[in-house]
Amino acid sequence: MNYCVVGLQWGDEGKGKVVDILAEHSDIVVRYGGGANAGHTVIVGDSRFALHLLPSGSVRPDTICVISNGVVVDPDVLIKGINTLAEKDISLDGRLLISENAHVVLDYHKQEDQLREESLAKNKLGTTIRGIGPCYADKVGRSYTVRMGDLRDTEALEAKLQTIVAYKNKIFAALYNAESIGADEIFEKCKIYAAKLLPFTIDTTEFLHKSIAGGKSILFEGAQGSLLDLDHGTFPFVTSSNSTSLGMPAGCGVPAKFVDKFIGVIKAYTTRVGAGPFPAEQDNETGQYIRDKGNEYGTTTGRPRRCGWFDAVAVAYGVTIGGIDEVALMHLDTLSGLEELKICKAYKINGEETTFFPANEARLSLAKPVYETVPGWSEDLTEVNDFQDLPVDAQNYVRRIEELIGKPITFVGVGPKRSQTIFRQ
Ligand code: GDP
Ligand code: IMO
Ligand code: MG
Repeated sequence: MNYCVVGLQWGDEGKGKVVDILAEHSDIVVRYGGGANAGHTVIVGDSRFALHLLPSGSVRPDTICVISNGVVVDPDVLIKGINTLAEKDISLDGRLLISENAHVVLDYHKQEDQLREESLAKNKLGTTIRGIGPCYADKVGRSYTVRMGDLRDTEALEAKLQTIVAYKNKIFAALYNAESIGADEIFEKCKIYAAKLLPFTIDTTEFLHKSIAGGKSILFEGAQGSLLDLDHGTFPFVTSSNSTSLGMPAGCGVPAKFVDKFIGVIKAYTTRVGAGPFPAEQDNETGQYIRDKGNEYGTTTGRPRRCGWFDAVAVAYGVTIGGIDEVALMHLDTLSGLEELKICKAYKINGEETTFFPANEARLSLAKPVYETVPGWSEDLTEVNDFQDLPVDAQNYVRRIEELIGKPITFVGVGPKRSQTIFRQ
């Protein structure tokens, strides 16, 4: 079976945990989009890993890990990730493959991200400052880019960096009055990246198709969440890649028809980091309760996540445009202790009710959630292994969400560990 796992909300749904579980039955795990803006948590025994670029299968010693064309690779973060695993005696030698066509995030991308956000002041997007937008913009612009394969030819790379850095310096000085950056320093760093990462760098598209022909099972690991998709999310408060499942074929060169199941990951409530509309947000005691109980602080930036009620309109949209077959619902345990829960089942926009998510900032910011209230439960769920052993109100909550989003919930998370997962099929 080939699976694709994608977030259906605004990221941080628990994709890392779901991929880690499914990776037990997969030969290969592929990250196909985004970059080090992602932070995927995987817990193995007493060790907690926050993976930013390495696929979440990397903690399993026999899993082949692919970083394909659509990812923007920050070599500093990737090398750090490789070293962190090595410290835990997890080696990636011979099983990490990086696309030669993946674009490289360099220091000037991170600087540009920061300068732009600062200059936007109160209108900033709230990016992760990982250089994601600037790197993807350079990719689309085509003229000033470095791809992983470019690290092979040192002489050509040095000349390329001189041109790019001169161009960036003009922009940084004109727009932000910023100090110049040096091409030589970046070139020296690139030589270190080349020495460390070129042994892993290949044509991953060829590798993936040969693997498919050889009957290997592949797990495609989405980053971010569907509502952060550049084309289909809450633009401009999105990331710079296609973070719905629609980004998978383009990001790795494997047609979607090779995927047997698209699995959407959701939380039992909603969170968002960064700016942008969030109709079911609870900027109050309830939101704080969820933040504290669910430890809702960013895996990449440490920022407190905005928290709110479960939004079925938003999730149903992710299900629809992503062709989702089944859903993994995480963090059911976090809702224990709330007397009543609300589920947003429709929006009212200018007095009209809709259940189709408007991926348009002007209309979405007018959306007033229409809630239904359901009973909560007080029991701790973190030791429950069987769906039938959950409190009836927790079971009913899951079933009601299934009804509203129109897809079966096959995994239920009751804690961060692998073992704290209820399988329903
Ligand atoms: P990702 O970006 O989608 O991989 O998610 P993150 O790793 O950024 O954030 C999810 C957080 O929730 C991590 O700290 C996980 O360890 C944790 N987590 C995942 N599933 C569950 C769950 O079912 N219950 C609880 N309490 N925590 C969970
Ligand atoms: P994972 O894979 C949550 C958000 C940022 C910001 C917007 C744009 O861990 O779910 P960017 O740095 O991409 O230009 O920021 O997107 N964002 C995420 N939010 N989880 C993520 O990844 C995110 N990746 C980007 O907070 O609002
Ligand atoms: Mg995350």
